[in-house]
Amino acid sequence: MFVQGIDIPEGLDPPDPNVWPYTVPAVGRLLAEPLEFRAPVTFLVGENGSGKSTLVEGIAEAYGLDARGGRAGRKYANNRPKTPLGERLRLDLTARGARQLSSGRRARTGYFLRAETTFGFAEAVSGMHGYWEENLSEHSHGEGFLIILQSMLDKPGLYLMDEPEAALSFMSCLRLVGLMHDLAESGSQIICATHSPILSATPGADIIEVGDHGARRTKWDELEMVDHWRRYLSDPGRYLRHLIDA
Ligand SMILES: Nc1ncnc2c1ncn2[C@@H]1O[C@H](COP(=O)(O)OP(=O)(O)O)[C@@H](O)[C@H]1O
Ligand SMILES: [Mg+2]
Repeated sequence: MFVQGIDIPEGLDPPDPNVWPYTVPAVGRLLAEPLEFRAPVTFLVGENGSGKSTLVEGIAEAYGLDARGGRAGRKYANNRPKTPLGERLRLDLTARGARQLSSGRRARTGYFLRAETTFGFAEAVSGMHGYWEENLSEHSHGEGFLIILQSMLDKPGLYLMDEPEAALSFMSCLRLVGLMHDLAESGSQIICATHSPILSATPGADIIEVGDHGARRTKWDELEMVDHWRRYLSDPGRYLRHLIDA
């Protein structure tokens, strides 16, 4: 593990809780109490707008990863203005995380994988030293995505992901579960925002549900999302008749 918690320090110039992003409950609560990461794999689950991306981007920036998505230790990762949360967020680092951060940009291993931007980014850096050898434009979006992830298994690091399931089929999601598990076993840490009941079932993962209540730890079985999927798959009509006139 590299990061065992996040919070926002009080300091001399405290942020205004009535201004975004502190108006998002999951972010605002960081002013009062830290959010802990207790397992090598943590999933952030919650409705659209619940603050998952804001949190993941903030952590990425606080760790020196480009919030557009990309690998740690890259030059251009550091000369963009940070988001308001990225500027304020305090990381509770493990000894290992602290060692990585203090040993400078080049020694840092980590990656921020954002479904929205990854493919364009991947094409731009394809073939660059330190990235991957394959020409990703010859692969489908989902295949390219898994190639990127597989090539990241080489060095233990901090991996942040924002809805990585977006490009993936059911079978590819299963492969991603395997990859995440391998990453965790090889000493990496993953913090992943997801809507996927497949990914969030990764064995040993910690699940934090974010929403109007703020953020709370929960079990896969008790996730609202999992309940909805179960009921939808067993009888889509029960949901759809409320939306579509017969
Ligand atoms: N740059 C921004 N300025 C103001 N509000 C924002 C900004 N980015 C996101 N928001 C708002 O913050 C909330 C949380 O967004 P986000 O973290 O993207 O949610 P999620 O990833 O869980 O869907 C949403 O209500 C969104 O509209
Ligand atoms: Mg999001």
